[in-house]
Amino acid sequence: MNKDKLIIFDTTLRDGEQSPGASMTRDEKVRIAKALERMRVDVIEAGFPAASVGDFESVQAVAQAVQESTVCGLARALDADIERTGEALKGAGRTRIHTFIATSPIHMQKKLRMTPDQVVERAVHAVRLARQFTDDVEFSPEDAGRSEVDFLCRVLEAVIDAGAGTVNIPDTVGYNVPEQFGGLIRMLRERVPNADKAIFSVHCHNDLGLAVANSLAAVVNGARQVECTINGLGERAGNAALEEVVMTVRTRQDVFPCTVGIDTTQIVPTSRLVSSITGFAIQPNKAIVGANAFAHESGIHQDGVLKSRETYEIMRAEDVGWSANRMVLGKHSGRNAFRSRLQELGIEFGSEEELNEAFARFKALADKKHEIFDEDLQALVTEASTEAENERVKLVGLKVCSETGETPDASVTLTVDGVEQQGRAQGGGVVDASFKAIENIIGSGTELQLYSVNNITSGTDAQGEVTVRLEKGGRIVNGQGADTDIVIASAKAYVNALNKILTPQDRAHPQAADV
Ligand code: KIV
Ligand code: ZN
Repeated sequence: MNKDKLIIFDTTLRDGEQSPGASMTRDEKVRIAKALERMRVDVIEAGFPAASVGDFESVQAVAQAVQESTVCGLARALDADIERTGEALKGAGRTRIHTFIATSPIHMQKKLRMTPDQVVERAVHAVRLARQFTDDVEFSPEDAGRSEVDFLCRVLEAVIDAGAGTVNIPDTVGYNVPEQFGGLIRMLRERVPNADKAIFSVHCHNDLGLAVANSLAAVVNGARQVECTINGLGERAGNAALEEVVMTVRTRQDVFPCTVGIDTTQIVPTSRLVSSITGFAIQPNKAIVGANAFAHESGIHQDGVLKSRETYEIMRAEDVGWSANRMVLGKHSGRNAFRSRLQELGIEFGSEEELNEAFARFKALADKKHEIFDEDLQALVTEASTEAENERVKLVGLKVCSETGETPDASVTLTVDGVEQQGRAQGGGVVDASFKAIENIIGSGTELQLYSVNNITSGTDAQGEVTVRLEKGGRIVNGQGADTDIVIASAKAYVNALNKILTPQDRAHPQAADV
């Protein structure tokens, strides 16, 4: 049987970034977009260009860097948003504009303060305008999951007539349950007269933990695009997890009437990349990408798997990209070996200078750590890119003292706007003392929301990867740092977060803003 293709639309860079604290820099977004392209994701939603200059530039950079996947930008149903999105995508390969307006009674009355007629008119106008920039236009009736079905049918018919090739049905607040949501998709496809002229897509949030189940129920009922994110990142409880949607459709071909074009071996590396850039750790029991997803603890299970792996495994770990840590490089590896391994990992440098700098870091790491694994290389590149942003504050030196019965003490040297400054403090532990010493210099007034350490590989000489989340005046940022010494990794992460908070940002939230 010839099956349909299920289009995988990844919104890690847009909805994923709406998770508090998950904001990513332009270069980080390009790295993730390249990883998604390597995974053969069909559509990458790169951001919301009208939100800020930074968002505009990120979408522009992703659109220029990606050739194989379609690059999409989100726009409210506003002329200025659509024009800005068209501008950000200009000159790129395959592009899509995704425009939306809310259709539920509560959103129309309370948020938009618009009548249903005005909403239809605005939606049609937005789609027509978007078509002037690209032939590939997607329309979403925001909060479709709580919209009246008759009105939804009216809006969808109108936007398909106006030129929307994809109509996306978002369960914006994660309110739906699988049978009902599947039924909604079936009903819309049956009742909208021109439904055959558009692809039906779904975009489910995970407030009740049902985002993947709802998305899959929709697929069984005719949806042919699923919007999802790596590790299920996204606004509030997140979006449907890409890895779970893809692996369910692939594993249960007896149930699903469609196939996916994803290179599933890229799932775990991409998941790790997103986790390390955003600082959102992956829970060990997370399906597909959690550290325990393929680990068999009980003796009975281990015995069964050794005799025949199918006894307890429905997927092969290597099919989703789990592989034993591979020693790739060491102290004696040369520049070419370093460059070509990074190229195999999809990491390219903009200039020889950047490559040289990364190579110098690699050599310094190889002096401290015998075996350098792929994960170490990823962390090294993350660090190089975060330091590039560390324009105002730089960590020059750190000395800590910890002794039984004594209060831990830290002395730190920073440069702030190029001027060297020193600070000293005591704390409950050396990390606490280091952060206080840094604060004594900067006086940022931020609040520490999260401090977490993960070992990048195993062994006591492994690099620790630290995430620090800081909050100030409602704004939340993440900082990362990696080092074989976790106190230094912690100070690097703190400084990285401070640099982000010291950079002013004026950024609109796409769904909070009125039309
Ligand atoms: O959740 C939502 O409704 C959205 C839309 C902008 C598609 O993210
Ligand atoms: Zn969403």
